[in-house]
Amino acid sequence: MSALVWDESWETGHPLIDFDHRTLVDLVNRLRALLSTEADLKAIDHFMVRLNDLVHKHLQREEDILRHIDFPDFSEHVKDHRNIASQFEIFSNTWQRAPEALDLHHVLSFVEDWLDRHARHEFASIAAHLSARNA
Ligand SMILES: [Fe+2]
Ligand SMILES: [Fe+2]
Repeated sequence: MSALVWDESWETGHPLIDFDHRTLVDLVNRLRALLSTEADLKAIDHFMVRLNDLVHKHLQREEDILRHIDFPDFSEHVKDHRNIASQFEIFSNTWQRAPEALDLHHVLSFVEDWLDRHARHEFASIAAHLSARNA
C-alpha cells in the first residue's frame, strides 16, 4: 500500500478523534519512510513506542467519547478496538523480545488497513451523530 493521504472526508468533527487519526496517519507514513532507509533499530524503536502508545491511548479516548455521545454502534466498535489492542500487544511484545522477528511492514499494513476500514465504515457515522447532537 502506498502512503496514506489524509482526506478531508475523514474529519469526524471531533477535535481529539481527528487529531489522533491524523497523528496515526503521520506516524505510519514516517515509519514507512524510515524503513526504506538504512535506519537503525533505535530510530525505529522511537516510532514503534510512539505508535503503540498512541494506538492504546486513541482506542481509550475514542471509546470514552463514543460512550459519552451514545454512539449507536458502540459495542460493535469496542469489539473491533479489543481486537486491535490485542494485536498491538502481540506486536509490542515481539518487538521488545526479538525485534528481528517482527515484520514491520506487516505492522504498518495492519494499521493502514484498520484506518482505511475505520474511515470507510465509521468516520461518516461518527460525524453525522456528532452533528445531529449539536444541532
Ligand atoms: Fe475506533
Ligand atoms: Fe479511531
